[in-house]
Amino acid sequence: MNKYYITTPIYYVNDVPHSGHAYTTLAADILARYFRQKLGDKNVFFLTGTDEHGQKVAQAAKEKGVSPKEYADSVATRFKDAWKLLNIEYDYFIRTTDPSHEKVVSELLQKIYDDGFIYKGSYKGLYCIGCEKFLTETELVDGKCPLHPNKEPVYQEEKNYFLKLSELSKKVLEKIEKGEYEILPIERKNEVVGRLKQKVEDISISRAGVPWGIPVPWDKSQTIYVWVDALINYYSATRFVEGKEKYWPADLHLVGKDILWFHAVIWQALLIAAGIALPKKIFAHGYFTIDGQKMSKSLGNVISPEQLIDRYGVDGTRYLIISAYQLGDDGDISLQRFDAKYNADLADALGNLVSRVAKLCEKVEIDTPGPSRIPEEYSKDLENFDLYGVLEVIRGQVTSANRYIDKNEPWKITDEKKLIGVLKTLAAKILDLANQLKPFIPETSEKIEKQFKGPKIKSGSPLFPRL
Ligand code: MSP
Repeated sequence: MNKYYITTPIYYVNDVPHSGHAYTTLAADILARYFRQKLGDKNVFFLTGTDEHGQKVAQAAKEKGVSPKEYADSVATRFKDAWKLLNIEYDYFIRTTDPSHEKVVSELLQKIYDDGFIYKGSYKGLYCIGCEKFLTETELVDGKCPLHPNKEPVYQEEKNYFLKLSELSKKVLEKIEKGEYEILPIERKNEVVGRLKQKVEDISISRAGVPWGIPVPWDKSQTIYVWVDALINYYSATRFVEGKEKYWPADLHLVGKDILWFHAVIWQALLIAAGIALPKKIFAHGYFTIDGQKMSKSLGNVISPEQLIDRYGVDGTRYLIISAYQLGDDGDISLQRFDAKYNADLADALGNLVSRVAKLCEKVEIDTPGPSRIPEEYSKDLENFDLYGVLEVIRGQVTSANRYIDKNEPWKITDEKKLIGVLKTLAAKILDLANQLKPFIPETSEKIEKQFKGPKIKSGSPLFPRL
C-alpha cells in the first residue's frame, strides 16, 4: 500500500456543524495524520465537504429567505471554519454545487442509463425529508420515520427514473462475500448482508418536483436524487481535483451507522453499474447521545465544536471526543464526564508528567534520543480503526511513567550520573508518547517535542490547565 484515500460523509448544509459531525471528521483527521506519517504527506488524500442539493437544504434556505446557493455558501463556510478551529487538516473540501462535480455526476449517470441500468417508472409512497430518503412500509414506526418522528413523511406520487437495484444488489452481495470490499465492524457487515439476502427493491434515483439539484442529463424535467449526487462526490473529487486521479479507489469511507446502507449497497451498485472499481473499506461508527438523549435542536442539547474548544482547548476537545467510547460502538457523552476526564487524563496525568519531568531536567543537561520506532501494536490498532484502544494504551503508559517517578524519587537522587539516567529514561518516554499522540493532539505533541529537545530542557506553561 503506497497511498491512502480517506473520506468523511459530506454534511448537509441545512444545519450548522455540531459535535456529531466533528466526531466523524476528527476520527478521519487522526487516521489521515497517521497515514501521512507512515506514507508521506504526498501519498494521502483526505476528502471532506458539504452536501448541498435536495429538498432539505432548499427548505432551510426558504425559511431563511435566501436562495439555496446563498444559503449553501454561508453554511459551507461555517463547516470550513469549524474544521479549521479543530485543526482538521483535510486535503480538499468538496461542495456538490461545484460545476466540476456536477459534470462528473451527469456523465456517470448518463453512462449507467446508456448501459441499461436505469428505467422510467412511477413512484408511489412516502418520503422523509429529514433523511432525504424514500421510506418502505417496513421502516415505518407508527406511520413515521423512526429517525424523524416529529417530521411528517410526505406522500409522493410521481414518474421517476429507477436504478435496477434488485438486480445490482445480487452483485453487491457477491462482492461482499468474496471480500472484494470490506464493511466494518463485522456486526454492521452482517446487518447489511442480512438485508441483502432479503428482497431488495429498485430505487428511484430522480425527483420530479425538486428543482434544487443536478438535472437528469437525458430528461431535464427531473433532477438527480440528492443521495446519488452526494455519493458520487468521493469519485468525482479524484477526477477533477488536480493530481488526485491515482487515489481512486478510496481506501476508506468513514461514515456514521445511519448512512451505512447508502454506502455499503447503493454506492457500490452505482459503481458496479458504471464499471468503476469499488472502494476498499467502509467503516460505520456508532452514534453518541448526550446525557442519554439524542442530540437535537428541539431538545436544545446540541453541543457545538466551539463550545467544547472554549472549555477544553483544541487538543483537549480532540482527545475527549475520541476517547469517550469505541469508534464502532454507540456511546453517551456528557460535559460532566468530559470535565472529569480532562482533569484526570490531561491535566493530572499527561500534563503533570510533562511538567514534573521538565522541572527536574532543569538542573542537568540531557542529550535526549530521537523518538524510538512506533510500536507495531500501535500501527496495527490504528489501521484497525481502534482509536479508542490506542488512547487507552497511551493512558496506561502515562500512568506508569508517573509511577516510575514516584518510585525513583529523582528529587532525592544526589548522584548526578544516576539522576541523568533516570531523567533520560523519562524524557525518552515522553518523546515516545508525544510521537504516538501526534495524530490525536498534534499541537500538544509538537510543544512537547520542542520542549524536550536536549540538552537544556526547560519548564513551560501547563499543557492542560486544570479546570
Ligand atoms: N449528507 C449526508 C451524507 C452524504 S455522504 C455521501 C448526511 N449528512 S449529515 O449532515 O446528516 O451527517 C450525518 C453524519 O454526521 C453521520 O453519518 C455521522 O457521521 C455524523 N453524525 C451526526 N450526528 C452524530 C452523532 N450523534 N454521533 C456520531 N456521529 C454523528 O447524512
